[in-house]
Amino acid sequence: MKRVAILISGGGSNMVALAASMKGDHPARPVLVASNDPSATGLDRARMLGVPTAAVDHRPYGKDRAGFEDALMAHLILARPDIICLAGFMRVLTPRFVEAFKGRMLNIHPSLLPKYPGLHTHARAIAAGDAEAGCTVHEVTPELDAGPILGQAKIAVAAGETPESLAAKVLVMEHRLYPAVLRRFAEGERAPLYL
Ligand code: GRF
Repeated sequence: MKRVAILISGGGSNMVALAASMKGDHPARPVLVASNDPSATGLDRARMLGVPTAAVDHRPYGKDRAGFEDALMAHLILARPDIICLAGFMRVLTPRFVEAFKGRMLNIHPSLLPKYPGLHTHARAIAAGDAEAGCTVHEVTPELDAGPILGQAKIAVAAGETPESLAAKVLVMEHRLYPAVLRRFAEGERAPLYL
């Protein structure tokens, strides 16, 4: 049984979808939900799901990213995860942390990578006049939003689409894509899934 830790920063809707999917004959189970924000509402949702939680406020560490990561790592060492899922986690991780989980850390990004790494992905897709948008699950590597793609889901950009309307549609796709990719990943499948 693979042990999965999920890192969040906010509402944790992707975390809920992931945690709720890991049951029955699924080869993985959630063992920790950790946040860089102690007030993240996703922590309450994790507790309601019966998943152990941890919070390390990144603010006292200022620019000391390594110090924040050392505190986070202490919780991860106790949870002994086989896989880490970044789910709405809004901190950039140092190459040292990424290397510690090389080949077993996933992230979901709300664009069709390699298009639009970084922030404001929906506004950028609309501004570019793209006919479609979507989300990507990828392995996390030291370069931001650039690791091997494990899955993608596409959706048409409607006339008059706004970043908010597109984000809402893509989020529904995220909640389908991420659990499907995690299950395949936990089963050792690395070929990308396209929804
Ligand atoms: C989602 O758009 C996700 O793509 C991005 O963070 C946003 C919020 O995710 N990574 P969640 O509701 O906190 O899972």
